Amino acid sequence: MLFDEKTITLKNGQHAIFRSPAVADAAMMLDYIKTASGETDFLTRYPEEWDGTDIKKEEAWINDMRESQNALGITCYVGGHVAGNCEIRFHSGIKTRHRATIGIAILREYWNLGIGSAMFEEMIAAAKAHGTEIMELEFLEGNDRARHLYEKVGFRVVSEKPNAFKLKDGTMCKEYYMQKYLE
Ligand SMILES: CC(C)(COP(=O)(O)OP(=O)(O)OC[C@H]1O[C@@H](n2cnc3c(N)ncnc32)[C@H](O)[C@@H]1OP(=O)(O)O)[C@@H](O)C(=O)NCCC(=O)NCCS
Repeated sequence: MLFDEKTITLKNGQHAIFRSPAVADAAMMLDYIKTASGETDFLTRYPEEWDGTDIKKEEAWINDMRESQNALGITCYVGGHVAGNCEIRFHSGIKTRHRATIGIAILREYWNLGIGSAMFEEMIAAAKAHGTEIMELEFLEGNDRARHLYEKVGFRVVSEKPNAFKLKDGTMCKEYYMQKYLE
């Protein structure tokens, strides 16, 4: 799916562009996710776990998302650089197509500027347009910024998975599962 390009103004007055990532952005997208993965323990992978993803694989991932009827990626560009990305995956099975799953990661430099809030506005609109009934996501304990944002836009914790993540230093983290019901 493709997102109609849009310009937003961040809390610091800078302009940012929301658009679907282009295949030509593959190197930039890979750099971004590796950097983001090193800036927080709240993402699924450590940076080196992206080493197996080369430009060709990243290009294929972007192309698949652009062509798929079941996925929408929105990337935020500031000054031509990738500042963050979000993705909504619409489930397609007969028993699961009422649900859509969200993923989001913004580079540290751009936290707290309203990008996450603006991305959720777009993903919620896309989910409503798609006929989704339940939006869902997961986050790790301690990710207070994420939890605040998700609750602000109407998600509620409905279950938790103890010891879902084990960090390199041995710390175990609980994962929360949230849902938002769409009218
Ligand atoms: C979590 C994340 C997506 C939020 O995006 P963002 O662009 O920073 O979010 P916004 O600026 O739109 O909103 C952040 C909100 O959290 C609030 N906030 C900031 N730090 C906070 C904290 N420690 N505790 C609670 N709330 C906090 C801000 O005040 C703001 O609230 P408001 O809109 O009511 O004023 C982003 O910070 C991020 O990608 N973090 C790293 C990766 C990650 O955690 N991804 C999510 C995995 S589930």
